[in-house]
Amino acid sequence: MKEIYFAGGCFWGVEHFFKGVDGVAEAMPGYANGNTDNPTYKEVYTDTTGFAETVRVRYNPDRVSLDFLTRMFFTVTDPLTLNRQGHDEGTRYRSGVFYVDGEDRAVIETVFQEVSAKLGVPLVTQLEPLKNFYPAEEYHQNYLDKNPDGYCHLSLKTFSYLRLYQDAKLYLGDETDTVARMANLAALIAKKMHFFWTGFYRVIDSELVLGPFQGTAACFRIGFGKGVCGTAWKEKKTIVVPDVEEFPGHIACSSESKSEIVVPVFNEKGDVTAVLDIDDNQYATFDNTDAAWLEWLAALV
Ligand code: SME
Repeated sequence: MKEIYFAGGCFWGVEHFFKGVDGVAEAMPGYANGNTDNPTYKEVYTDTTGFAETVRVRYNPDRVSLDFLTRMFFTVTDPLTLNRQGHDEGTRYRSGVFYVDGEDRAVIETVFQEVSAKLGVPLVTQLEPLKNFYPAEEYHQNYLDKNPDGYCHLSLKTFSYLRLYQDAKLYLGDETDTVARMANLAALIAKKMHFFWTGFYRVIDSELVLGPFQGTAACFRIGFGKGVCGTAWKEKKTIVVPDVEEFPGHIACSSESKSEIVVPVFNEKGDVTAVLDIDDNQYATFDNTDAAWLEWLAALV
């Protein structure tokens, strides 16, 4: 068993999240890297102790890697807000990864560098050795299990996506046929997330051609740079459209579609080979949380 400490804002949500990661044996909320001994929540709350709300994650390295856990941490943590996560402010809500095994640093650092390169700016998230850690009071443990309607700075869909991602990874296994993988991935996403339309368009010659999907009949072909799908292909990036009527050149396959997200699928060379296109019949369904998780899911293709 190994351990790593994640400070990602309010520990109620971070604990709940990591408990759901396959291979994690224990997620314990507590206070880390402060200047006193045995702090209470009340003391930490004054924001004068130097402690950060932190979750100790004990995991089986044969089942889950530190690299994966660190990537998961960044799906629930904003690495650009100094001493703040969501609405929670103060040094106790600073973000950080604290390690006990010096050899872990390089693994974590690699992920930090990748996240920073993607965002194009340095991260404010700390990467430090663990100085000290005190488990939080009993009432903070399993807080969201005990209080299912309790406060959580993470959106509910984060927890659905985590389950979906892990299930999809297991389900797709080592099947080698790409279209078959797309078919089951579209089915799994649609079933779990209840979107209006979920499917793939494949790059074939100079066009996107309709692939496996769940939902109403859709247009067969989309040109490079055309519509939301063709734009995501051309720009090689995820496009979130809160209101499809506001997107110049949007291709309406169904008048019921109100918002949309399109995520490119890449091969090892970095070429776009397909796009994952999801529509919903409500406005503004998709945000950065969807974008991050759908990129993870699209990469399973
Ligand atoms: N709206 C897409 C076309 C595909 S349908 O949404 C299924 C677009 O503008 O590219």
